[in-house]
Amino acid sequence: MATSARESALRVAKRLDEVGFSDIVVIRNKVMELRAAGQTVHAFHGGEPFFETPDAIKQALYAATEENKTRYAPSSGIAPLRAALVDKLRERNGIEATADEVLITVGGAHALYCAFHAVLDPGSDCLLFSPYWTPIADMIRGTEARPVYVPTSTARRSGITTTLEQLTTPETRAIYYNTPQNPSGVVFTRAEAEEVAQFAKQHDLMVIADEAYEDLVYDGEHVSIASLPGMAERTISAYTFSKSYAMTGWRIGYAVAQEPWMTAMRKLVLYSTNGVPTMLQWAAVEALRLSPDHHQKRLAEYRERREALVEGLNTIGFDCEMPAGAFYAFPSVTRLSNDSRKAAAMLLEKAHVATIPGAVFGSQGEGHVRFSYSTTVAAIQQGLEALRRLT
Ligand SMILES: Cc1ncc(COP(=O)(O)O)c(C=O)c1O
Repeated sequence: MATSARESALRVAKRLDEVGFSDIVVIRNKVMELRAAGQTVHAFHGGEPFFETPDAIKQALYAATEENKTRYAPSSGIAPLRAALVDKLRERNGIEATADEVLITVGGAHALYCAFHAVLDPGSDCLLFSPYWTPIADMIRGTEARPVYVPTSTARRSGITTTLEQLTTPETRAIYYNTPQNPSGVVFTRAEAEEVAQFAKQHDLMVIADEAYEDLVYDGEHVSIASLPGMAERTISAYTFSKSYAMTGWRIGYAVAQEPWMTAMRKLVLYSTNGVPTMLQWAAVEALRLSPDHHQKRLAEYRERREALVEGLNTIGFDCEMPAGAFYAFPSVTRLSNDSRKAAAMLLEKAHVATIPGAVFGSQGEGHVRFSYSTTVAAIQQGLEALRRLT
């Protein structure tokens, strides 16, 4: 049979044509190379908590395994975990959800992936505040929708509604709303959350809320947009155990939504991972039992690091706003180069200070680099010293 008339089947699905890999990996490799060559690297490029997973959580994993809680669980998550999350959502996020409105996912990333796939059609537009967490634009493109960038600082300065209005098209279906933000550390205020909510209601849009850093707010308050009047029905909220409990490698998070979104996301989980490992879910129940002191103590430690790094950067001459949340600082590096990739390369090669170029987080991040201050205070001081020598 003639095959010349049709394209070869030996090609990747077109849906993935526009989906990229993050160049954060390139930086990670370069850091490993330097270390392998015996060089000291001042590592500010990561996105992991500085502390280890609390012992009680690890013990709960061992116990669950010993007790043979190792069989298939319901693909949406075990009942005790979903029940504990209902309480957490009510008490800490002001969200009234039922257990059926909670879905356990393989980290926050999987919750977001399912959310975008449940909401966006090919050809849809999705608004996202920028600079943004790198994978988001690719997740949106993976649904064959179009990411539409909302410059966060312009929106905050000139008005969120006006800025969103200028960028909204007849194809707009959703707003990706991340607070506290990676990479800028911006925490949207309650008034700003209300404005975004009002806009979503007026324009009949969904909101995909990313609350990965909900427990890391130093100035102001964390407002879950789904808790605002009329928003629970049009919001999918994505959460993770990664940052609050130092469980990045465990890969566990959850999505919260009403119908019809929940059924759609359940299908996505069922046919992708068929759920999260059962014993990990039992360990996550234990995480939710940790006393609120856990978060308070960590927050105080992060605050100390934030101040050490940001004050140091400003003293050296890298203009840096004090971030209100998360564990990143996002200083300007235009004194080194307007091209943040060049500036980050210079910092790495000349001072062995590893950061992430702001351009990786969208063109609105250009002229900046991202430092994570999730490390020891001593490591921050040593990194600052290396920068001082450079300038
Ligand atoms: C803004 C933001 N959202 C979501 C995540 C997802 O984290 P995970 O998939 O580890 O839960 C991250 C991780 O870095 C993040 O920075």
